[in-house]
Amino acid sequence: MLYTRDTARRERGFFLHDTMIYAKRGFANPGRVRYHNVFEYMFVFSKGKPKTINLLRDKPNKTAGQLEHWGDNTKRQKDGSLKVGGSSGRGAEYGYRYNIWYYNTGRQHSAVDDEAFLHPAIAPEHLVHDHIVSWSNEEDVILDPMVGSGTVAKVSKAMNREFIGVDKNKEYLEECCIPRLQRTNVGDINAIHFQKQSPAIP
Ligand SMILES: C[S@@+](CC[C@H](N)C(=O)[O-])C[C@H]1O[C@@H](n2cnc3c(N)ncnc32)[C@H](O)[C@@H]1O
Repeated sequence: MLYTRDTARRERGFFLHDTMIYAKRGFANPGRVRYHNVFEYMFVFSKGKPKTINLLRDKPNKTAGQLEHWGDNTKRQKDGSLKVGGSSGRGAEYGYRYNIWYYNTGRQHSAVDDEAFLHPAIAPEHLVHDHIVSWSNEEDVILDPMVGSGTVAKVSKAMNREFIGVDKNKEYLEECCIPRLQRTNVGDINAIHFQKQSPAIP
């Protein structure tokens, strides 16, 4: 039998709960022989049913406030007749986000901490914030086994979560992650660099 990473994941009881896209509004390395890469996959794994699901509801609804009709249905009555029903209401101001999330990337977008950019592949603080909101609550423990420049550490602390970080590369810990956490006010939500424009929706 072929033993793959997928086999290992299943053996440990993880299930793929969601497949999402992190879409970048720019690109770092222009492609010469194929189209510029502006996305990465985001896989959400869970052991059984996720304990916490706080889906973000920040997609402006084009029909907000308008009277909408959401379909008819029929229900058989005791006397055999059919009663026609249906549902309608006014559109909410915001709907649930789709699973493609857009962010500006690079300096002044992903982060403003100089230490972070000593690492070659940082995640935008705003993206990390959005996942932490979605899948955890305050005081939960966030484990990042590939902590790199410490983005997940910084954002977790700012969002009142406990945090454990690991990285195989000691230089990233000593030169990026630890100085970044020591210098920034990680207990404060304002320490997170939020983009001025709404990032997640095109
Ligand atoms: C894409 S970077 C993570 C960046 C991080 N999210 C940030 O915003 O800074 C991946 C990190 O995983 C680390 N890494 C790769 N393989 C690893 C392993 N087997 N165990 C621990 N860390 C690993 C690398 O050293 C690198 O810092």
